Amino acid sequence: MIENSELMLIRPNKDLENQIMEYRQEYIDNNENHINGSCSLHRFESFDQWLDRVNICATDEELSIYNTITSTFLAIRKIDNKIIGTIQVRHVLTKELRDDSGNIGYGVRPTERRKGYATQMLNLALEFCRSLGLDKVLIDCDETNIASEKTMIKCGGVFDRNQPIHHSNGEVEIVHQYWIYL
Ligand SMILES: CC(C)(COP(=O)(O)OP(=O)(O)OC[C@H]1O[C@@H](n2cnc3c(N)ncnc32)[C@H](O)[C@@H]1OP(=O)(O)O)[C@@H](O)C(=O)NCCC(=O)NCCS
Repeated sequence: MIENSELMLIRPNKDLENQIMEYRQEYIDNNENHINGSCSLHRFESFDQWLDRVNICATDEELSIYNTITSTFLAIRKIDNKIIGTIQVRHVLTKELRDDSGNIGYGVRPTERRKGYATQMLNLALEFCRSLGLDKVLIDCDETNIASEKTMIKCGGVFDRNQPIHHSNGEVEIVHQYWIYL
């Protein structure tokens, strides 16, 4: 298990179904339509289908959304076993991930933001990346996402470049990409 004194990262399992669906509901109630670092939990009304997806992505690179093994973790606060956030590690930086999304994605539930948890979660995920033998990881965020950018920088992020992302509706979004050397 990857942990510090306050949080632990664990892989989702069936025993946590109610807590995970309650975590999902909090984002919906907060009018957020995306749960970062969660293997698209927002898209699944069925817990079992989501858990299957998480497990497939963790074991089968061809069926994984990112064409690489993808490990999804819940960040659990030890003192009360509450799910604080989700964080995902994509084990190989494919060309697509180099251009968009990077190695790591993360989100903290709306009611637990600005308490230092994303920084702790990212530091724990970096430990996991070291255990995979990675020597650096790429992380990116939308140019307007100050909270995420600060989180990366606090965890050692070194600015790499501004990357345009071309969406199918013609919109162009700029993301800021950072390397973290492990
Ligand atoms: C981005 C996110 C994960 C940050 O989580 P968090 O637990 O609030 O982050 P932390 O408390 O560890 O804060 C990290 C830094 O960001 C700053 N920060 C956090 N929220 C902020 C905000 N809304 N505006 C400005 N700065 C902010 C913190 O003050 C801290 O910097 P400091 O130590 O210099 O003060 C969280 O806002 C979130 O889940 N957002 C939606 C999903 C998302 O954007 N994920 C990242 C996609 S790239």
